[in-house]
This record gives sequence, C-alpha cells and structure tokens, in this order.
Amino acid sequence: MKEFSEQRLGGRIALVTGSGSGIGRAISVRYAKEGADIVVNDVNLEGANETAKMIEKLGRKVMVVRADVGKSAEVEAMIEKVYNKWGRLDILVNNAGISGLPYILIEQTEEEWDRVMNTNVKGAWLCSKFAAIRMLKQEKKFGELRGKIINIASIAGKTAVPHIGAYSVSKFGVVALTQVLAKELAPDITVNAICPGFHVTGIYLNSEEVVRESMKTFKAPEILRGRLGTADDVAPLAAFLASTDSDYMTGQSINIDGGVEFH
Ligand SMILES: NC(=O)c1ccc[n+]([C@@H]2O[C@H](COP(=O)([O-])OP(=O)(O)OC[C@H]3O[C@@H](n4cnc5c(N)ncnc54)[C@H](O)[C@@H]3O)[C@@H](O)[C@H]2O)c1
Repeated sequence: MKEFSEQRLGGRIALVTGSGSGIGRAISVRYAKEGADIVVNDVNLEGANETAKMIEKLGRKVMVVRADVGKSAEVEAMIEKVYNKWGRLDILVNNAGISGLPYILIEQTEEEWDRVMNTNVKGAWLCSKFAAIRMLKQEKKFGELRGKIINIASIAGKTAVPHIGAYSVSKFGVVALTQVLAKELAPDITVNAICPGFHVTGIYLNSEEVVRESMKTFKAPEILRGRLGTADDVAPLAAFLASTDSDYMTGQSINIDGGVEFH
C-alpha cells in the first residue's frame, strides 16, 4: 500500500459492505489507518473476521455484522445494531457485489439475473435507505454534512460489457442510484460512486490470468497505465470521498481504472 501522512477520518464510523475480501477489505483497512472505526459486513463470516483482525491490529474499533445486503430485514437489523451500539454512522460504502455467471443475455436465466440485481442494485438501495433514514436525524459532527454514501459501481456501468450483461446493467443502475440519492438526500448527505476497472480480487478468483481472459471475452480496450489494478488502487479514492476534502462533490461516478473508460 502507498504511504500517506493524513488522518482524515478520525472519530468517524464507517460501514463497508462486502468487506470480507478484495476492494471492501482494502477500503476498510485504509479507513482504519485514517482514524475511522469500522463496521465490517459480509455474507462470508470467515473473510469478515479476517478483515476485523486487520483493523483491530491498527488499534481501531471494529464490529462484524453478517448480513445479506439484498434482504431488507437483515439490512434494517444491521443498521439498527450500528446505531444501538455506536450511536451514529458517518460513512456508508456500498461495496458488496457479484459478477454473475458469464452468459450472453439471451442465454441468461431469470434466477441469475435476479441474483445479480438483488445484490448489486437492490442491496445498495436498501443499505442507503436504512442508513440515510438514520443519518438524516443525526447531528452534524464533521463539517457541513450528516453523512456520506459511497457506491462501488464499475466502468461496466459506463459502457456496456458483453457476456456479463446483467452485471453491466446492474452497475448502470448503481450509477443512476447514485444520482437519484444525491438529489434526494441533498444537502445533508453526499452520494458519490467509484467505478473501478480490472482489479485482481475475489470477483476474478484472485487470479491475474482470469482477469486477462475475462478482458478478452469482454472485448476490453488496453489499460493505458500498462498493468492490472489491485484492491489497494481503489482505497485512496474511497478515503477522499469519505473525508471532508470532497464535501462539495455529490452525484459523481468517478473511474479509477488505469485509463480504460473516459466517460
Ligand atoms: N475487481 C474488479 O475488477 C471490480 C471492477 C469493478 C467493480 N468492482 C466492484 O467492486 C466491489 C467489490 O468487489 P471485489 O472486486 O472486491 O470482489 P470480491 O468478491 O473480492 O468482494 C466482494 C465481497 O462481497 C461479498 N458479498 C457478495 N454478496 C453479498 C451480499 N449479498 N451481502 C453481503 N456481502 C456480499 C462477498 O462475500 C465478497 O466478500 C463489487 O461491487 C464489484 O462489482 C470490482
């Protein structure tokens, strides 16, 4: 991980969904290094506990909540738990996501379509909904805002990607969700999105080869920076969006992909 000197998130409480692995774990660790206490959420409890250990080692408080972001009752209970135990939530990162099986859309099953939409779009909406209801009622502790929401979309939400059509459609949905929530929750909560490119994480079975093969299938252009991304490449942007440095930004979906997508 690159060195940095600032501690921009002191005193904040951040919930990062899907933080038992990959980008969510990298964001959680970076937030902890910048002074935040972390709620680690995942359906994979083993991964979540590993992330929690990393945060404890950094001397920050951590709470692990196993919840499926696509299930309303589980999300509501998770947010309740955070407020009951820690009294507030300053940053929500909607990171939990799945790619779905690689089929062209005319061969896609209804079950697989629903599975992808439920996690990627409905999950981000449900977490935002139950978190924002509470955030809007909490005092402004850090500058002008009551809370910050950061959605992890994808460059597949900017330009269509074949063979993971449901995923691509879902990520266009996350970009739209970001814009709608930004308008509806203004001026008290900012909502921005990050669009990663091709990063070696659990979604690609942690294999560079799988990423490169997938890029061929997706007819992806070359990466201008000349290498695949890592989970750590995304974390500094997530820290900026969680800090007061970005308070005047809302409704934006920013690519961080080594130079693949320009929109
Ligand atoms: N890796 C990339 O190249 C890339 C590119 C663009 C966008 N993204 C997005 O980044 C986010 C993180 O993915 P990653 O690459 O770190 O992959 P990952 O598979 O390593 O991490 C995703 C995590 O989300 C968890 N999760 C899945 N469904 C869940 C649910 N219903 N409720 C709670 N947790 C759930 C998984 O258990 C896993 O720990 C995803 O939204 C993904 O779409 C990744």
